[in-house]
Amino acid sequence: MPMDEPARDCAQCPRLAEFRRVNASAWPDWHNAPVPSFGSVDASLLIVGLAPGLRGANRTGRPFTGDYAGDLLYPTIAEYGFGEGRFDARPDDGFRMTGCRITNAVRCVPPENKPTTDEIKTCNPYLNTEIEGLENLRAILALGLIAHKAVLRSMGLVAARYAFGHGAMHDLPNGLLLADSYHCSRYNTNTGRLTEEMFHSVFAELRKRL
Ligand code: URA
Repeated sequence: MPMDEPARDCAQCPRLAEFRRVNASAWPDWHNAPVPSFGSVDASLLIVGLAPGLRGANRTGRPFTGDYAGDLLYPTIAEYGFGEGRFDARPDDGFRMTGCRITNAVRCVPPENKPTTDEIKTCNPYLNTEIEGLENLRAILALGLIAHKAVLRSMGLVAARYAFGHGAMHDLPNGLLLADSYHCSRYNTNTGRLTEEMFHSVFAELRKRL
């Protein structure tokens, strides 16, 4: 079933719409619009990130494409059999997702990579329709605490009952598995909070379970 995507000129978050406008005038060739989800609609795994990066997804129009986080994420997806092809940080690189889809808790790039609580709430219905629309969905991988909370919110679940932790696996009442990982941002890998090995171990566990 096709998912509901926000309109290209979505104005529900005034601050984000204004930031898009400023970016569009500085870089008219960039995507500069809500970034649609990427991957198969028959996915059993949905990966949820935070929000498009300014020079990454906001430039290229594909989640995690064109910035550091994607350079770790896509090869890991391929290594664990959730995607195939060569990732080349361009939406036309031919990389294919196999049984996997990627979306973001917030669809528009926020200033300084920080969406406000209101913006996360406003965008949450899109995450909800995404999750509801994936008929074969069995697991969701939340990249970071904000994605974790946004996923629980979209299902009407109380975040306090599901503590976020790297590698945590939560069996949700609706039968879905919620897996947590620290976000694969450059900051987290540079500071050693997330190593490649730690990131791989979450995918290895998901591969075992799916
Ligand atoms: N790019 C995305 O699309 N999402 C993130 O969370 C980070 C980078």
